[in-house]
Parts: sequence; C-alpha cells; structure tokens
Amino acid sequence: LSTTEVDLDGIETGSEVTVVWQGKPVFVRHRTEEDIERAEDVDLADLPDPEPDSERVINPEWLIMVGICTHLGCVPLKGQGDFGGWFCPCHGSHYDTSGRIRKGPAPANLVIPPYEFLNDSNIKIG
Ligand code: FES
Repeated sequence: LSTTEVDLDGIETGSEVTVVWQGKPVFVRHRTEEDIERAEDVDLADLPDPEPDSERVINPEWLIMVGICTHLGCVPLKGQGDFGGWFCPCHGSHYDTSGRIRKGPAPANLVIPPYEFLNDSNIKIG
C-alpha cells in the first residue's frame, strides 16, 4: 500500500504508536503540553538542522515522523536521550520532542512524511 491510515482515537496523550508506511516505521506521537512547549521553546540557532516546530506539525498535539535515524538508519527509542524525545542507541544521536537532531552524529532531523488529516481522529500517511 502506498498510503497508511491511522486511527488516532485511543492513542493517549503522552503515548506513541509505530505504524508501517511503505515498509518504514512511522512514529505517531500524541504530544503532551510539556512536549509541545519544549519543542517550541528552542532557539533555532542551537539546532544543527534548524527547523521550527510549527513547520513539522499540522496539529501540534500530533507529531508524525519516519522512525529512521538520519545517521545510518537505526530505529530510535522513544522517551530516551537528553532532550525528551528519542535516542538512537546505535551511535548516540539525541532527538528532541519535535524529532529534531540535537546531539550526536545524525546530520538531520527525523523526516516528516506527507500526511493529511481525514477528520479529527484519522490521518492518511502518503
Ligand atoms: Fe542512529 Fe548512527 S544510526 S546514531
């Protein structure tokens, strides 16, 4: 399938599911207020790959991104690392609550796939 639909109902605030889109893991994260504040309250000058959080989300409560480390392709672990987001155990890349690279060898932020909201509680990726 070239697209993947995800029902957001039941993904509680602060939790995350991984779905498969075109053979790749995609993280669907229901962010908390604190996650969102941390993602927005960042000096872009501090980012290796500067990108405002607002350009990475459609609805700030939902962060949808390809779960493949931009270094050499491992799958980062959620809730770990120094920035409250994800940590790649392969070589130690730390991603923040917007999925942006903050520390470690990865050169770029986690990729945002094309997606749209079909309604308040369903998205279509791809
Ligand atoms: Fe993630 Fe190297 S593959 S840090």
